[in-house]
Amino acid sequence: MTARIIDGTALARRLRTAIAARVDTLKASGVTPGLAVILVGGDAASAVYVGRKVKACEAVGIRSFTDRFPETIDNDTLLARIAALNADPAVHGILVQLPLPPHIDMPRVLETISIDKDVDGFHLYNIGALVTGNTVFSPCTPYGVVKLLESEGIDLKGQNVVVVGASNIVGKPTALMLMAEGATVSICHIHTRDLAQYTIMADILVVAAGVPGLIVAQMVKRGAVVIDVGINRLPDGRIVGDVDFAGVSAKAAAMTPVPGGVGPLTVTMLLENTVVSAERTLALADA
Ligand code: GUN
Repeated sequence: MTARIIDGTALARRLRTAIAARVDTLKASGVTPGLAVILVGGDAASAVYVGRKVKACEAVGIRSFTDRFPETIDNDTLLARIAALNADPAVHGILVQLPLPPHIDMPRVLETISIDKDVDGFHLYNIGALVTGNTVFSPCTPYGVVKLLESEGIDLKGQNVVVVGASNIVGKPTALMLMAEGATVSICHIHTRDLAQYTIMADILVVAAGVPGLIVAQMVKRGAVVIDVGINRLPDGRIVGDVDFAGVSAKAAAMTPVPGGVGPLTVTMLLENTVVSAERTLALADA
């Protein structure tokens, strides 16, 4: 068996065309969707991600506003900036790029973002709403994973899903979203004993551990669908996921590549959430 490659770049392109059309409709009604991005410090990877997000906004007609703050910014200055963006009607979405420097009170920062502008879906309200099933904004990477599976025509009801990685940004919300679709979900993490015992049962394996080559062919059920969320830079500069692509592609039915799998969807779902936020604003103004 050679796995079908799930082309995240192509799916992202299709979704972005539809998003651009919705932006045009909003503009015709007098609303230009706006995304505010806050970048603190000089983390190189964060700067790359923020650059991609800003460029993607431009490409679909979303206005973006970027604040770049030095590593030494204090909590109060950052919180005051978020409060100002909360009150700015030109801003429909606010994204604070993570990680933040250790002296910054990250939970407080995330909870200061208005829940109506929390397009990253990291506010406690949105995380809680994921549990109860009435989320306003789903976090972008898990939302992208759901879209990729949807694009493959996979009905998640009753499927055995194993999520490897239990981060707040990816693993936990992905597990909740796939459970909401009817999957039976197991979450594995750094303390899981005998990881392979779980992964081998997975009809759908989602890997977000940040460990290159963690998942090898012997750990994967023949015919499984494998979604690799990992983005790791090797010492030789290559970007790879958490899954041994060559080995696992001989066993899986379908899998995402890295790069070109989940990554483009993460940015796309941020655009989608920003447009949804602007549409909600317009609907409220019309009501
Ligand atoms: N850092 C790593 N992933 C993300 C993400 O999806 N959003 C934000 N804001 N920061 C991140």
